[in-house]
Amino acid sequence: MFHDPDFMPFVPRRRPSLRVAARNFIENWPAEAYRDSHATVRAVWPILPEMRLVTDPVLAEEVLVARAEKFGRDRLQVEALADEVNRDSLFFAEGAHWRWQRRSATPAFRHENLLALVPTFAKGADILADEWRARGKGIVDVSPAMTQATFWIILQAVMGDGAASLDRDKYLAALTPALSTTAWRFLYAQMGLPQAFPFPGKRKAEAGVRWLHRETSRLVAERRAAGGDAKDILGLLLSARDPETGRVMSDSELVSNLYIFMVAGHETAATALAWTLWLLAKDQRTQERLRAEIGTVLGSRDIAPEDIERLAFTRQVIQESMRLFPPGVAVGRGAREDVTIGPLDIRKGDFLLVASWCLHRHEKLWEEPNAFDPDRFAPEKSKGRHRCAYLPFGAGPRICIGMSFAMIEMQVILAALLRQFRFRTVPGPRLTLATNITLRAKDGLPLEIEAL
Ligand code: HEM
Repeated sequence: MFHDPDFMPFVPRRRPSLRVAARNFIENWPAEAYRDSHATVRAVWPILPEMRLVTDPVLAEEVLVARAEKFGRDRLQVEALADEVNRDSLFFAEGAHWRWQRRSATPAFRHENLLALVPTFAKGADILADEWRARGKGIVDVSPAMTQATFWIILQAVMGDGAASLDRDKYLAALTPALSTTAWRFLYAQMGLPQAFPFPGKRKAEAGVRWLHRETSRLVAERRAAGGDAKDILGLLLSARDPETGRVMSDSELVSNLYIFMVAGHETAATALAWTLWLLAKDQRTQERLRAEIGTVLGSRDIAPEDIERLAFTRQVIQESMRLFPPGVAVGRGAREDVTIGPLDIRKGDFLLVASWCLHRHEKLWEEPNAFDPDRFAPEKSKGRHRCAYLPFGAGPRICIGMSFAMIEMQVILAALLRQFRFRTVPGPRLTLATNITLRAKDGLPLEIEAL
């Protein structure tokens, strides 16, 4: 087990604070959330109402799996995250409307289709590796670097050749202000304030979203005009037909879904990869062990689909990284009706957070929860663990559709980078979290990178 004070970079607050809610809201989650089955984040009277956290695998399973039909996307998520470009996507859809959208996209995520993407995943990593090599030994913030690689990859997976007409840097530049201000929008939704109220970065974020809407609409229009029957994700969405009503997706639904796949499909995986490299830079022994596995499995040849299964320790490292630093810190739900879950009496309209961050560090579920130890995910040690003790991708019918895509992609990128480079930490201040739509470090994750 590897210990480092940065692995738990704050002390849970006894009294929540408004300032913390905008900066890194998980600091407001109380210490009980790490040892009890549920916890309440106390109200900051009269501004912020109290909030309930579910921090027990059995209760989490009730909410997300066993009684999933009693819960929907909660009001806060919809208010904070839905905007003109993503509003009509499957992420926000409910009931039958959600089901057919989800079913339409599912074939793209079958195992054999994902394995066929292995060369694309490897190419995304190699483009980055070539850049790093050309630059020579130096310090790189791996957060934007991973974003660059995973964004290139998701564009190929979603649109194939259609990706060529997109200015990737401009698209990411428009997206960043929108993503990095979501904590404000969540806070306003919680406080019952109109989203029209100002907050730092709001105008830039809104201008970005307008541009993203125009640009994503252009991509859909171009594909429609080009025709063809490509089996990439956009192609599947274009040919989807609701089995109950026979209806096809409207332009607005196509744009929203294309956008949600482009965004959800890269930002989360980039976050997980950046944390993984940072953890490996801290724990050099695990980094060496991982490099040894990659060497044994791949030798000096290119990675191939059949290697994925054999890169077992690589997978464990990623799993452990997402336990300590899950890209999404919680899964939110709103109750559709009155329901009792264990000791919790929940009223129609109530909001609940299944707090993955706390479940992943719960003292009753994990030995030395704040230590880094990929062996926790070895098959013999995982046996008997409740399936909802570990929820980086959620669970139940709304589990992340891109889970296997992301796992294979991350294994390939990690293998490609680790066999070519050594990663070391650089002196600097203690880690400060900036929890937004994903769990990011306030000052990025700069690492020293040395070509091998
Ligand atoms: C490490 C990478 C990823 C993580 C940690 C992650 C995590 C999550 C989580 C926690 C949810 C919410 C589940 C819920 O509300 O119950 C979700 C939903 C979703 N994810 Fe991911 N995700 C990742 C990668 C991806 C990728 C690669 C794609 C697409 C290519 C994707 C597309 C989606 C979509 C479309 C949804 C909404 C599903 C629905 O509502 O039916 N994600 N993801």
